[in-house]
Amino acid sequence: MTQLQINGQTKEVNVPDDMPILWVLRDELGMTGTKFGCGMAMCGACTVHVDGTAIRSCLTPVSVATGRQISTIEGMEGDLVGRAVQDAWLTNNVAQCGYCQAGQIMTAVSLLKVTPRPTEQEIADAMSGNICRCGTYPRILAAIQQAAARLAQGGTQ
Ligand code: FES
Ligand code: FES
Repeated sequence: MTQLQINGQTKEVNVPDDMPILWVLRDELGMTGTKFGCGMAMCGACTVHVDGTAIRSCLTPVSVATGRQISTIEGMEGDLVGRAVQDAWLTNNVAQCGYCQAGQIMTAVSLLKVTPRPTEQEIADAMSGNICRCGTYPRILAAIQQAAARLAQGGTQ
């Protein structure tokens, strides 16, 4: 039995050490907010955080996360930066089909936690590994800038 900390809760799963975190989340725990895109660490749809760092859960074995904190899109409602980013996503109507968006938000949150006032270039660099086949990139940029500005003012409204 493997014990995992996910969004502040302890979960127990009976899985092999080399099972990707994405499989554990979706297939073992029914947490389907995190998406499977390419399965090859090339699209970012599966992005979650391990100890605050954005990682590709499709290729990261669950053994990497034991004793560490996993955060997923389901946990962003209870996270100050996560909430600000999600609010800005709604205000800017970022999503189109929506498939890539959980991964986009998780990468944006990890960026803003390390770099609270990123430049446009820093946003572009941080988000460059998250592919959106609907082309929502301009709205993603606007939403991240808005979330950063709101957080700098000390709130999410
Ligand atoms: S599904 Fe993991 S990067 Fe594409
Ligand atoms: S919103 Fe459709 S892939 Fe990004």
